[in-house]
Amino acid sequence: MHRAKDFGLDKTHYLGDGVVVGYGEVNGRLTYVFSQDFTVFGGSLSETHAEKICKIMDMAMKNGAPVIGLNDSGGARIQEGVVSLGGYADIFYRNTLASGVIPQISAIMGPCAGGAVYSPAITDFILMVENTSYMFVTGPNVVKTVTQETVTAEELGGASAHSSKSGVTHFACANELAAIQHIKKLLSYIPQNCEDDAPVYPYEMLASERREVLDTLIPDNPNTPYDMREVIAGIVDEESFFEVHKDYAENIVVGFARIAGRSIGIVGNQPQAMAGVLDNDASVKAARFVRFCDSFNVPLLVLVDVPGFLPGTDQEWNGIITNGAKLLYAFSEATVPRITVITRKAYGGAYDVMNSKHIGADLNFAWPTAEIAVMGAKGAAEIIFKREIAEAEDPEAKLQEKVDEYTAKFANPYRAAHRGFIDEVIMPAETREKLIRGFKMLENKVDQLPKKKHGNIPL
Ligand code: HXC
Repeated sequence: MHRAKDFGLDKTHYLGDGVVVGYGEVNGRLTYVFSQDFTVFGGSLSETHAEKICKIMDMAMKNGAPVIGLNDSGGARIQEGVVSLGGYADIFYRNTLASGVIPQISAIMGPCAGGAVYSPAITDFILMVENTSYMFVTGPNVVKTVTQETVTAEELGGASAHSSKSGVTHFACANELAAIQHIKKLLSYIPQNCEDDAPVYPYEMLASERREVLDTLIPDNPNTPYDMREVIAGIVDEESFFEVHKDYAENIVVGFARIAGRSIGIVGNQPQAMAGVLDNDASVKAARFVRFCDSFNVPLLVLVDVPGFLPGTDQEWNGIITNGAKLLYAFSEATVPRITVITRKAYGGAYDVMNSKHIGADLNFAWPTAEIAVMGAKGAAEIIFKREIAEAEDPEAKLQEKVDEYTAKFANPYRAAHRGFIDEVIMPAETREKLIRGFKMLENKVDQLPKKKHGNIPL
């Protein structure tokens, strides 16, 4: 029960004070959970409500198991003042200390404001329920007062806004049951804590793991899009791909899958959206996912088809330098097994960033269709042969000649392979087999970063 006396609270007591906490098993694995009850003071957080959540967070840390929060709360209990703020800070502090030690998952089950959104924001994954859940620091009324903007709760902080515009939520679920099922599925790919490995599913290797469908996926025209999800489906165990952040920054695809029964995290450029270019949102989305996988020993598979970083004032003024660096940093510091497959383009800085050999990838494969160069052949020819083209009798023909020359030299994987930056040029159909063997070879990889307190990722 709460201990507050002001504003008539001494006359209104509810046993449990608006939150149920405890532990149980999800598919036989220990899991801690708290669930807020909006019917008790709007699920708001009192001193005792906070103490209950902290109690199971402490237990989860000691026993190395995930914490699931089912959030449905108007934030700090306004009648309690600073005591409830203190309660939130106690939770934020524990969220932070638990980050990278045990998985923390937040489901947003109703209107959540204030501290009820900041705690989830520190956790690893957020799920929202469509049409009935909202997340905002301040609701539509306060927005109207402060900025004179008229906006509905759904527009401001509904599942659709946060899954596609802000990227705050990783999953938008049709209803509460779907959200619970998503959480269970998510847990099946990840370990109990940072010292543990993800569950391994039984898998019998087939006589041949070739997937011929992959040989015809890449279009003849290098500028024709295709769906990287089809490449993923052709590589991983059947139906095992579980996409994260599906509707946000669609030019990069991230998610979990299994390969021969073992969990992996996948990051793949998506040629189907903005030609797979890296921009601010895609860089941050992928960086966060890579860091989760590295925190929790989930090996990484990186599928590359990227024309470069997106140019322009919008990108520059919104910090593509810092944001691109986040992804570079996240890959560089990852010590889990890391395998890269370049399916087509790997241009410029994006080649370096997308888990290149130079930043610590363990195995780098390329398909024969790979193009690894500083930039596309036309742009390159126009710069380095500018004068020659201008002075030519037929500049068009000269440009084409130089484009062909550059293409022959660099629009292939062999230059990189000669240098050892690519370990093997493989046929697409044999990719799955190579990856099964590769991840098995790397199963016991031990790698350590230099001794430090912690790095300073460009936030
Ligand atoms: C105490 C609260 C409450 C709160 C809601 N209630 N929020 N009681 N403290 N924070 C109570 C209401 O008085 C009401 O009680 C009941 O819960 C249902 O609330 P409604 O407003 O009727 O519900 P709804 O229209 O669905 O709106 C939900 C809401 C809104 C959007 C969450 O209630 C709201 O804006 N609440 C305040 C949000 C907020 O500003 N919180 C403090 C944030 S500061 P009755 O008795 O009428 O049923 C914070 C600091 C943390 O959290 C630090 C961050 C870094």
